[in-house]
Amino acid sequence: MARQIIIDTDPGKDDAVAILLALAAPELEVLGLTCVAGNVPLAQTARNARRIRDLAGRRDPPVMAGCDRPLERALVTAGHVHGQDGLGGVALPAPAAPLDPRPAVDFLIDTLRQAAPGAVTLVALGPLTNIASALLRAPEIAARVGEIVLMGGAHRAMGNVTPAAEFNIHVDPQAADIVLRSGAAITIVPLDVTHRALVTPARHAAFAAARTDMGRVVAALTDPAGHTSARHGPEAVPLHDPCTIAWLLAPGLFDGRAVNVMIETQSELTMGMTVMDWWGVTGRPANARVLHAIDAEGFFDLLTARLARP
Ligand code: RIB
Ligand code: CA
Repeated sequence: MARQIIIDTDPGKDDAVAILLALAAPELEVLGLTCVAGNVPLAQTARNARRIRDLAGRRDPPVMAGCDRPLERALVTAGHVHGQDGLGGVALPAPAAPLDPRPAVDFLIDTLRQAAPGAVTLVALGPLTNIASALLRAPEIAARVGEIVLMGGAHRAMGNVTPAAEFNIHVDPQAADIVLRSGAAITIVPLDVTHRALVTPARHAAFAAARTDMGRVVAALTDPAGHTSARHGPEAVPLHDPCTIAWLLAPGLFDGRAVNVMIETQSELTMGMTVMDWWGVTGRPANARVLHAIDAEGFFDLLTARLARP
């Protein structure tokens, strides 16, 4: 039986790749795409999720709009990374169908209340505002969700929007704090892992060689040509969000450790920092499995093979 998941997302170029990988995976049943403001404002993320679903040739799962701003802080977006449309201007048709009218937070709560305990996994690819809002309204869902797999945070890798904070956590630190304190089973896919999942020209060529619509669009979304950064060097672009789906499909590609993780929500200097008690010096109980190693070649082999399937 396929594993039931809900993807909470702010597409977002790398979100798009993760959603395509999940929709193409027979091991997974995507119950819904719940959209949140993050990389671009909510209107664009909700539009993009439907455009990506259309690309996958699907009319399901339902796409729902969630929170259009963080719980307390002003919205910070990343149009400079993902383009103003959120998909780097990649040519995709307008959505074929309207949004499902259910609010995303209602869908999260209702689905988890109605499903058997442990049956549904939440995959969080953006700021955690929707999931935190659901936990605030229905705290009991923390014990009902099978696992929350979230792309976010950093241990030794430090931040990517400030020296201390990764984007998803930085946008809504209060939401991340609520999720990490909820008692839910959490797996964190931090920058320490995703910064090893680098799209290089050779890996990009393999995407394009898939000769499928998905391969073509993923190649367009992840092209490293012309990109350079002090952290990764020339023509190397980290592929963050698909690592969460790869964890579900092939956990053997990763290694992780159960540690206590807390979120900085007071200091503006370190706002949104994931404070990971790697050596157990605080005595605080572990509240997350933090992944820290990835077989990058195996990850790209998996992704490329899945994109090549007709
Ligand atoms: O820091 C990377 C994360 O922030 C990814 O989820 C990317 O899509 C952005 O949301
Ligand atoms: Ca994202």
